[in-house]
Amino acid sequence: MLEVKDISAAYGKAIALKDISLYVGEGEIVSLIGANGAGKTTTLRVITGILRPLRGDVVFQEKSIVGMEPYQIASLGIIHVPEGRGLFPDMTVRENLEMGAFMRTDRDEIERDMEFVYSLFPVLKEREKQLAGTLSGGEQQMLAIGKGLMGGPKLLLLDEPSLGLAPLLVDRIFETINQINRERRVTILIAEQNAYMALSISHRAYVIENGVTVMEGTGKDLLGNEHVRKAYLGI
Ligand SMILES: Nc1ncnc2c1ncn2[C@@H]1O[C@H](COP(=O)(O)OP(=O)(O)OP(=O)(O)O)[C@@H](O)[C@H]1O
Ligand SMILES: [Mg+2]
Repeated sequence: MLEVKDISAAYGKAIALKDISLYVGEGEIVSLIGANGAGKTTTLRVITGILRPLRGDVVFQEKSIVGMEPYQIASLGIIHVPEGRGLFPDMTVRENLEMGAFMRTDRDEIERDMEFVYSLFPVLKEREKQLAGTLSGGEQQMLAIGKGLMGGPKLLLLDEPSLGLAPLLVDRIFETINQINRERRVTILIAEQNAYMALSISHRAYVIENGVTVMEGTGKDLLGNEHVRKAYLGI
């Protein structure tokens, strides 16, 4: 479904990615794990068209999308839930969800997706009229994922969905990501520092170090891998 081929990218003169390659198959949950500054977020930015790569190609459903504008890429069904969540703090919960669907015209399905989001996160329904900026960190993360779902994703890109959340809530969020994948058949690519949680729910994963993919495997294999255990799981 998505192929990132030998991508190099930089911010000014600072090289952030050096020939990154990865693949996400239809229906999969794939994770990118790695330390601070490894290049996870940058990889997602290249996929969404926010950052133009120096070299390489990104192919989505057999078409190259490098050089397309972010809104065009979003309209193909690649929906990004950014680090920092990308909410409109002065708009209500419901308005944020509606903004997530602004490129769509299928009214009935939008309404159905809204109900699906509220069934995943009932607290959002209770707080429908509350301003997004006044939600707790965990509620904002739920809203960010909900807003992403309202975009009608074929491929959902989640950047650090567990960031800043209490352990119980981290479990919930990852369970919900799994549920979205299973029930809605949404393909999911996650950038995540919480390697244990990410690997636990992923079909496959890549380890990124200094802008390079250094390892690839099933979630299960990487959870058992010596290097991954030492460097990322603290075992
Ligand atoms: N806007 C920017 N301007 C300059 N350099 C940047 C910018 N954003 C990221 N970088 C640099 O690019 C490299 C990769 O950063 P990136 O944000 O992709 O890492 P990451 O793997 O997402 O890390 P984290 O786990 O901390 O989110 C880092 O060295 C970082 O300092
Ligand atoms: Mg990041």
